[in-house]
Order: sequence, then C-alpha cells, then structure tokens
Amino acid sequence: MKAIILGADGYIGWPMAMKMANEYGEVAVVDNYVTRKLVADVGGTSALPIGKDLKQRAENFSKHFPGKKIYVEEGDLRSPSFVEAVVKKYKPEVIVHLAQQRSAPYSQVSAIHALYTQTNNVATNLNVIYAMKKHTPKGHLLKMGTMGEYGTPNIVIEEGNMEIEYKGRKDKVMAPRAPGSFYHLSKVFDTYNVAFANRIWSMRATDVMQGVVYGTRTEEMIDEGLRTRLDIDAIWGTVINKYCAQLIAWNKLLIYGKGLMTRGFLSLQDSINCLFLLAENPPEEGEYRVVNQLDKIYNTYQLAEIVQKIGAEMGYKSTFETIEDPRVEKQEHYYEVTHEILPRLGFAPKSTMEEQVRQMISDLAAYKKYWYRKRDRIKPNVYWKDTDNAASLKSKWLLKHTGKGYAEDFKVSE
Ligand SMILES: NC(=O)c1ccc[n+]([C@@H]2O[C@H](COP(=O)([O-])OP(=O)(O)OC[C@H]3O[C@@H](n4cnc5c(N)ncnc54)[C@H](O)[C@@H]3O)[C@@H](O)[C@H]2O)c1
Repeated sequence: MKAIILGADGYIGWPMAMKMANEYGEVAVVDNYVTRKLVADVGGTSALPIGKDLKQRAENFSKHFPGKKIYVEEGDLRSPSFVEAVVKKYKPEVIVHLAQQRSAPYSQVSAIHALYTQTNNVATNLNVIYAMKKHTPKGHLLKMGTMGEYGTPNIVIEEGNMEIEYKGRKDKVMAPRAPGSFYHLSKVFDTYNVAFANRIWSMRATDVMQGVVYGTRTEEMIDEGLRTRLDIDAIWGTVINKYCAQLIAWNKLLIYGKGLMTRGFLSLQDSINCLFLLAENPPEEGEYRVVNQLDKIYNTYQLAEIVQKIGAEMGYKSTFETIEDPRVEKQEHYYEVTHEILPRLGFAPKSTMEEQVRQMISDLAAYKKYWYRKRDRIKPNVYWKDTDNAASLKSKWLLKHTGKGYAEDFKVSE
C-alpha cells in the first residue's frame, strides 16, 4: 500500500483520502470519530453533512470513482497495539498523520481538556513513530504540525534550522517555538519527538508547519455526499470559516481585539495539494525535513474585510463588532515566514481567497438548516485567562471518557 491517512474522517483528512485514492487507486484510512464526539459535546455540529461514518463515505466515493478504493480501519490511535496492527497490515510507503485534537480553544477549556489534548496528541504520534520503526523503517512519516508552534517572534520564522552565533560560537538550532495554547504545545512535543526519532533511528519524516486552513471544496467533491466537515462554532471553527457563518447568521463579523493578529493561511485545496506534493517528494532516507505550509499572510481585520466585500457582492450586508480577545496573544506584532520548499517542489495556489470565500458562503447558505439553530455557539465562550471554562459547556462525553475510562485506556491505576 502506498499510503495510510490517519484522521481521515476530519476536515483535511477526508479530502486527502479522496485525493490519494484517486491518484493511487487505493488508500487505507483510520479514525475513531472523536472530533464528531467532542464537537457535539460542546454544542457544535459540522455545518455541512458528512454521512454516518467512514465506511459509508468510502462506499460513496467508490460509486463516484469506480475502481478506486478506500480501506477503512476504525480505532483509537492512542492504542499502541492498534497502531502497530494497522501499520503491519498495510506496510505503507507514507503515513499522513492528521489524527489529533486540533482546537486551541478546546485545549484551554479546563485541566481535563488540556490533559486530553496533550495525551491524545503525544500518544498518537509516539505510537505511529514506534510502529513505523518496527514495520516500515524506511517509510515516510508526513506529520501535520502547525505554524502556531512558532508563535509570533520578532524575527523571521525560518523553515527548519537557523544559524545562530552566541558568545562567539556558532551553531544550527531549530527555529524557536513559543506556542499560544496547550494544543499548540502538544504539537511542539510532537516536533521534538519526531526530530528525536530521526536522530536515534534515522526516521525519514516531514514535519509540516501548517497555516490556518479555510474553505469547503476540493476537486474530488463532485457530489454532495463527498463533502468534508466544516466547523463554524467558536471552539472548533477557524477564523475565516467563522466569519462566513457570522455573516449569514448575524450580518455582523466579530473582530477579536484590534484585529491586527497576523498569521499564514491557505485554502483546503492548497493544503491537500501541498501534502500530496510532499508525499510524492519525500525527504532523503534518514532526513528530517521541516516545511512551512502556507499561501499568504493576513491579519484578522483584513480577513473580515474580504468576507465583508464578497458577502456584499452576494447580497449579505454586514458590519464589524469589536470584542475582547478571548486568547492571550500579542495584539500587534511583526510576522514574516520563510516558505520556500513547497514552491520549489512546484506548489502554486489553485485559487484566490475571494473565490474560496464565495464558495464557502454559498455552501453555508445552502446548508443553513444544519447549523443555523446552533448559531449562538459562534460567540466565543472559552477564555485563556480562565482555568475552568467548562461551566457553560457540557463536555459529558469527555468527562466520562477521561474519568474511569481514562485510566483503563492507558492501563494504569487511578
Ligand atoms: N484545520 C486547520 O486550520 C489546521 C491548521 C494547522 C494544522 N492543522 C492540523 O491538521 C490536522 C488535521 O486537522 P483537521 O482540521 O482536519 O482536524 P479534524 O479534527 O477535523 O480531523 C482530525 C481527525 O483525527 C481524528 N482523531 C483524533 N484523535 C484520534 C485518535 N486518537 N484516534 C483516531 N483518530 C483520531 C478525529 O476524529 C478527526 O476525524 C490536525 O493535526 C491539526 O492539528 C489543522
């Protein structure tokens, strides 16, 4: 098998699975549906329908792409034996690892949410590293990190190592990390774990520092039943996706603080194309490669202006409302990122942000009945300064899962 995709029921994982199955003829995918459960747990829902489970999605894909197959494995990647069995069964050339808790606000809800985030993320990654070392020692781990690992330093964010001179001596060190949430911190742990596996076992890996992803469509979505999930609530949604929902729900876009917080962005289609390009162009045997994956840099005010402009062209008038920034982050800062590897491999953005925003507004409007009744969830309800935001959130599933079940999962005594 050429590839396994971990986290294939997710926003990026599903279109990635379709792309690889389409290109390679077959792909194996894994998920335990935890994003569905955690989103529902805090009162959210995917704004677009995604079907019952991966088996149904895979069957539907094969109907539209005859002869192409997605093999589904359901299970929790925190289990070392499950991960080992899957890697042993398929012995893939590349594993695309997307299966993690990916919401910064979720990780900041309370101690339990932070604990779940970090244990889930570090455990899945370590299990994949060990299973690959055992069953595909020359395989390529294509691991999804985040640009949020770096924070917002007052120097250019390098792609990989940077040369430093300190007290008269020179060395190469990894670009500094200053993550802004317990979620982003979990990704920093992963980075050091993958880099360490490379040092001791010569693991071949690409560590992708990805910007914020937006959009609803990729080329393989030729039928309504092939859509991917879209989160638009304050905990699980990312900024542009949330603005588009706010436009339709309230004719009002919520700007955090001064709106000058600046980050890198790329569309869902570009994210998929970049990952595919990296899978097709693996690092050398024994190489650890860091890639900064983004298209353009914007601040959150500029993004709101784009959504407002496109919205107006589509008949949605909107105003801006400035609210307190629920996060603890620099309100004004320098932001420059080196991103040369992907363009060198041939990456060029497929479409403009304006085109993607137009498509997203139109998709959200078409599926309004799925999410409109939950529109109050788009207002921020998790504040970084609070250690227990859980009062307004149910989190029943998580609490059950991390109570007795938690100890059982890891076979440790309580
Ligand atoms: N969406 C973005 O803007 C963005 C930006 C930068 C990085 N990333 C990273 O990209 C990856 C994918 O993000 P996404 O937006 O598709 O998230 P997602 O939550 O939609 O998808 C992740 C999938 O992994 C699964 N999963 C999580 N833990 C698992 C476990 N223990 N066992 C089995 N499956 C598990 C979830 O059920 C989910 O389907 C994540 O690692 C995320 O941190 C995303």
